[in-house]
Amino acid sequence: MALNDVLVDELRDMYSAENQLVKALPKLAKGAINPQLKALFTAHLEETKGQVLRLKQVFEILEEKPTGEHCNGMEGVIEEGADALEKDQEGPSFDSGLVGAALRTEHYEIAGYTATIAMAQALGLKDVVSLLTQNLNEELNAAKNILAAAKPILRESAQQPEDQEKKPKTSKEKESARKSREDEKKAAPTLRRNR
Ligand SMILES: [Fe+2]
Repeated sequence: MALNDVLVDELRDMYSAENQLVKALPKLAKGAINPQLKALFTAHLEETKGQVLRLKQVFEILEEKPTGEHCNGMEGVIEEGADALEKDQEGPSFDSGLVGAALRTEHYEIAGYTATIAMAQALGLKDVVSLLTQNLNEELNAAKNILAAAKPILRESAQQPEDQEKKPKTSKEKESARKSREDEKKAAPTLRRNR
């Protein structure tokens, strides 16, 4: 497969990822308790819509259609965010979970744009590089702003008393715990050998 085909596949992945975020960001904005965090999520939703349009321009330049790949990675990252929204935590601790989820989505996109920009550079696609770089810069800025807004929230969260009564685990949480033990078990032989 030529690099151009790899690039188009990756860009379709990004296009799907951005579209998935257009659906997911309002949920984070609605869920956030801290007004600054809420405002950042809302502002990034508007930016994300612009990013979808920029990606469409990229596909026009490449004379390819934008659909064709569903981004499983972003689906998983968003799923983690949905888990954070279900957490039974108070104020700043609840928001801290959302910050973690939001930063994962941003850094997933940062990785995607970093790779596709490098590919487009190798192919000498200047206009594509320029459009993708605008998206990358917005992602970098969003991650920076979310982290800055998070600092006071995390400090406040660190002062919150710990939950006295541990709530019973849901079946989803139990399944997640079982899988995590399996992950550990599968990695264990390799870890021992490397020592
Ligand atoms: Fe984005």
